[in-house]
Amino acid sequence: MVQVKLADSAGFCFGVKRAVDETLKIQKDLNKKIYTLGPLIHNNDVVNFLEQNNIFAISLEDLDQLTEEDTVVIRSHGVSKEVIDKIKDRGIKLVNATCPYVTNIQKKVNKYSDEGYKIVILGDKNHPEVIGINGWCGNNAIITSKGNIEEEIPGKVCVVSQTTEKQENWKRTINNVAELSKEFLAFNTICSATEVRQLSADNLSKEVDVMLVIGGKNSSNTTKLFQICSANCKNTYHIENIKDIDIEEIKKMSPKTVGVTAGASTPDWIITEVLDLLKTI
Ligand code: F3S
Repeated sequence: MVQVKLADSAGFCFGVKRAVDETLKIQKDLNKKIYTLGPLIHNNDVVNFLEQNNIFAISLEDLDQLTEEDTVVIRSHGVSKEVIDKIKDRGIKLVNATCPYVTNIQKKVNKYSDEGYKIVILGDKNHPEVIGINGWCGNNAIITSKGNIEEEIPGKVCVVSQTTEKQENWKRTINNVAELSKEFLAFNTICSATEVRQLSADNLSKEVDVMLVIGGKNSSNTTKLFQICSANCKNTYHIENIKDIDIEEIKKMSPKTVGVTAGASTPDWIITEVLDLLKTI
């Protein structure tokens, strides 16, 4: 029988898993339709599953339609203080599932901007996490995507990073801030979840005959996992779910071991279905 191995770290990170679990629990407790501000996860299977469970994604503008009877969940990316205040002012029930690592950044930014520090955020200015963080310092932060800073930075500076940033961009940011400012505080708020997932995919794909990478076809973090695994194992396949597995083709290879990893937006139940199917070989 084929040996099936799952990477030590695969699928949802801690923050996303926590947000999904909490949302499902709240819906179960309330037993009615609830809303998430933006999709909890960018994965069609998950969106369908949530909708079947009476959980629907809405936009910021849709908040105006909600009443005191409604419940809205803040996803792991977090939101600005203004959005939290708006939900509270309207009397809408709020479930804040912001990842604790993101909350930590928001708190730092809020504290140091109150103390007169200019905030610098390394990250993508259009990403909801960065928009949310900026909203805890009066939307006044300098946001840099690669760490290059053009403008003058007067006075004291506090630097933070989007959680999914690259360390090389962080180093560039700090070097530039050090040149532009005499006094600064720097908090490396990059989360290691992505790096750990990639490292365990790298290790596993070196020791298996066939490797399956589960995740959306247009998910960038899944594509990265696929590239890492392909470099180590020539029989690497990118699949979205069990429907994409050609079990006969895998059988023909007579593999001794099959490895499995999954991108950040792949839920446990899809991973389990894949593992169960592979065990039938
Ligand atoms: Fe995930 Fe939270 Fe890190 S959402 S990527 S555990 S910052």
